[in-house]
Amino acid sequence: MTSYKIAVVNGDGIGHEIVPMGVEVLKAAAEKFGFDLDTTEYAYGAGYYLEHGDFMAETGLEDLKNFDGILFGAVGLPAVDDTLPFKLFTNKVRTAFKQYVNYRPVKLLDGIDSPLRTKTQKDIDFVVIRENNEGEFVQNGRQMYPDEPYGFATDTSLFTRPGIERIAHYAFKLAQKRRKKVTNVTKSNTMINTLAYWDRVIAEVAEHYPDVQYGKMYIDAATANFVLRPELFDVVLTTNMLGDILSDLGGAIMGSLGFGPSGNINPEKNFPSMFEPIHGSAPDIAGKGIANPIGQIWSGAIMLEHIGETAAAEAIVKAINATTAQGILTGDAGGKNSTTEVAQAIIENLKG
Ligand code: NAI
Ligand code: MG
Repeated sequence: MTSYKIAVVNGDGIGHEIVPMGVEVLKAAAEKFGFDLDTTEYAYGAGYYLEHGDFMAETGLEDLKNFDGILFGAVGLPAVDDTLPFKLFTNKVRTAFKQYVNYRPVKLLDGIDSPLRTKTQKDIDFVVIRENNEGEFVQNGRQMYPDEPYGFATDTSLFTRPGIERIAHYAFKLAQKRRKKVTNVTKSNTMINTLAYWDRVIAEVAEHYPDVQYGKMYIDAATANFVLRPELFDVVLTTNMLGDILSDLGGAIMGSLGFGPSGNINPEKNFPSMFEPIHGSAPDIAGKGIANPIGQIWSGAIMLEHIGETAAAEAIVKAINATTAQGILTGDAGGKNSTTEVAQAIIENLKG
């Protein structure tokens, strides 16, 4: 039997509630489809930082490197400086493992009414491809004299030709398998150096894909169109920060931030990829058993697709839809069920 080695990082907050549900669903899928998942837990995150002074062990990256995939919740706690989780965990893994693609589908689930009343499942079905290794989030800057009246701070974005080319090729190839449309969400009218270069390199890559319809849209207009005309989008190609913001809006139009899944993907498979919901550790609802586990479980399905277990991945997505269609939902999505009840219903639907 094929066996995959999966690292499991709950992280903090609701990660402790939803990641174990994700693992249960994955194990049920593995049993049904005849493969094995060998999971190893790592207690990394802000909680780990409070005890050990860092978000992961010194050997953390070396250890994680040996897995076929990483299932991750989210990191961050109110008691810990919130400039640290991204720097010391999420971005560290994303860049060390060259997970330059952040894949974030936005798709209305069965039985869910979008807050966009007039829109249906055929209107809300697109994917945000967020550049995940460079751009605005390279943490290239400093604060000078922060306590002085003349204090100042800088963060310089960084965009490289190879970095733009590889994410653009990924987006166009993905579009070829979908509805053959790429929208570059940009702001090159004001970011006239970095984003004008971003546009130029993407337009060059677009030439290689004559079968894909290519266009660009500014982020401000795209924000409005996510709400007014989501049916315009198939593959949304955008930068690290713009994609971070837009994909929360994507979650919102699906009906809850708790539905949104993602994969931090190294397409070449030279390193493990990492799969996490789009939201954070939600400390405001942690420990109450009410967190929506669907974004986490769906992220597990994207992991299975990435490692080649496509049938199992599709079965999980189908089971999620069967569950939402039955109205088995947590409070954020307008339901009354607990985290565990939603996850158990997904497992039942998966077993069929
Ligand atoms: P958040 O995404 O954790 O929460 C925003 C709101 O959405 C909250 O009201 C929360 O209760 C709700 N929510 C989120 N996920 C939910 C779910 N599965 N079910 C039901 N409701 C859900 O964002 P926030 O509050 O801005 O950040 C909290 C912490 O998470 C911070 O420390 C932040 O740095 C961290 N964070 C970590 C991320 C990561 O590890 N990749 C990503 C985003 C934030
Ligand atoms: Mg985010």
